[in-house]
Parts: sequence; C-alpha cells; structure tokens
Amino acid sequence: MYTGLQHLHSFWAYLVLIMLIIAVVNALLGLVGKRTFGDRDLRIPLFTLIVSHIQLLVGIIIFFISPLIQWFSKNEEVSSIMKNADLRLYNLEHPLMMIIGIILITIGFSKHKKKDSSSAKFKTILIFYGIALILILSRIPWDAWF
Ligand code: HEM
Repeated sequence: MYTGLQHLHSFWAYLVLIMLIIAVVNALLGLVGKRTFGDRDLRIPLFTLIVSHIQLLVGIIIFFISPLIQWFSKNEEVSSIMKNADLRLYNLEHPLMMIIGIILITIGFSKHKKKDSSSAKFKTILIFYGIALILILSRIPWDAWF
C-alpha cells in the first residue's frame, strides 16, 4: 500500500502543479486582458481545488505510513529531526507548506465567488493561487522527485 500511495502522490503532484500554473496564468491573462469571467474561468480554479484536495488526502495518509516520517519513532529526538535538513523537509516543512498552500487555494476559491466584478474575481484567484504556487514550489522534495 505504501509504494502504491507513494507513486500516486508523486504522479498527482504533476497534476497539481500543472493545474495551479494554468489557473494562475489564466487569471493573469483574464485580468490584464480585461475579459469577462466565464465558465472556463470558474472550472479551471475549481478543478485545481479538487486535485489539490485529493493530494492533501493522499499526503496525510502517506505521512502516517512513510518510513521518512520520524515523529512516531521512539528512537528519534525532535532536535535530531530539526538538525537534519532532509528529515526536517519531510517531517515538517513539506507537509506544513503544502497544507498552507492548499488552505490558500481553498480560501481564494471561496472568496472569488463572492466578488461581483470579473476583474475582482481574476485578481483574487491570481493572488491566492499565486502565493500558493510559490509556497508549494519552495518545499517540494525536488531531489527525490526527479
Ligand atoms: C500540493 C500538495 C502536495 C504536493 C504537490 C506534494 C508533492 C510531493 C512530491 C513531489 C513528493 C516526492 C515524491 C517522490 O519521492 O517521488 C512528496 C513526498 C511526500 N509528501 Fe507530499 N505533496 C503535497 C502534499 C503533501 C501533504 C499535505 C503531506 C502530508 C500532510 C505530504 C507528505 C509527503 C510525504 C510524507 C512525502 C514522502 C513520501 C515518501 O517517499 O515516503 N505531502 N510530496
């Protein structure tokens, strides 16, 4: 089960990143081009929200079964996790940043629906999804992924 979920999490990360980039670029083009917020402009951030929530669920399950997670190991001290850059990334930085990123995507999606004008909708998606993208990119375990 662990290997299957690890592969799923690794593959799904491409989908999350591709959708997030498309959502940010689409919001930027919509804002700059002063377009009317249409069906496609709603579907892209909605699909991004869905794929990121699925990644969140898979990530939480992996967190409890991965051998890289040392919080539940009796032999590991908190200080030794913090001193080791790799352990710190998997045990703290990656999960925390990804969760914050997904929270921003969720807030951004919910806030954009309450805006009246097209430009305000595009701007809300651009800001929230854009910050989420930066945070997520900053704490992906690139070495393990490629
Ligand atoms: C936007 C959401 C996320 C993205 C894009 C993402 C992406 C990734 C990537 C690319 C890897 C490396 C996969 C590989 O080795 O091939 C990874 C590993 C991992 N992620 Fe995530 N992740 C996300 C959310 C989460 C969350 C929310 C958690 C936990 C709460 C989490 C926990 C982990 C763990 C524990 C590993 C190491 C798995 C292992 O090899 O044992 N991830 N993630």
